[in-house]
Amino acid sequence: MAPVRVKRRGLLLGAGAGAAAAGLAYWWKAKHADNAPQGSPLAVDLQDLPAGKLLTLNWQDKPVWVMRRSPAEIAALADHEELLLDADSRQSVQPPACRNRHRSLRPDIFVAVGLCTHLGCTPQLRGAEGFTCPCHASHYDLAGRVFKVGPAPANLVIPAYHFASENRLVLGASA
Ligand code: FES
Repeated sequence: MAPVRVKRRGLLLGAGAGAAAAGLAYWWKAKHADNAPQGSPLAVDLQDLPAGKLLTLNWQDKPVWVMRRSPAEIAALADHEELLLDADSRQSVQPPACRNRHRSLRPDIFVAVGLCTHLGCTPQLRGAEGFTCPCHASHYDLAGRVFKVGPAPANLVIPAYHFASENRLVLGASA
């Protein structure tokens, strides 16, 4: 019986180490990336996107979020900055033009890779409260800025994008 227990414990330790290594690899890659992710331009029509609705796209095998924020949600981004781990996005990955309070080219439109910077789970939208990760409870505001509580070490990654017109966003390339 003892060898079985030892083998099971070895498997559990191996799985834990694998998850930790994946998390570290994800974090290292994000922290050391020189630029926001780009490639495979994808046009997104914003015409029918109401405030508060989260659009999830599949881009380069990753979920990418596009969300229209209301004026109240934009204003609320200033209310909790002392609780954030990287309020100025100095340790986070985004295009240079998105290193601002709303982490976007336009305050009303939010674009982000929908993967937690801890172990890569997909956080869930909780309305005006932002996004909560289901596995270890990291919490992000509506600009993808991570709160100090929880294990995620950086804000959500913002990919390269630009606006071809008022209602047409092109994901994957800066203008
Ligand atoms: Fe662990 Fe998000 S993956 S908190």
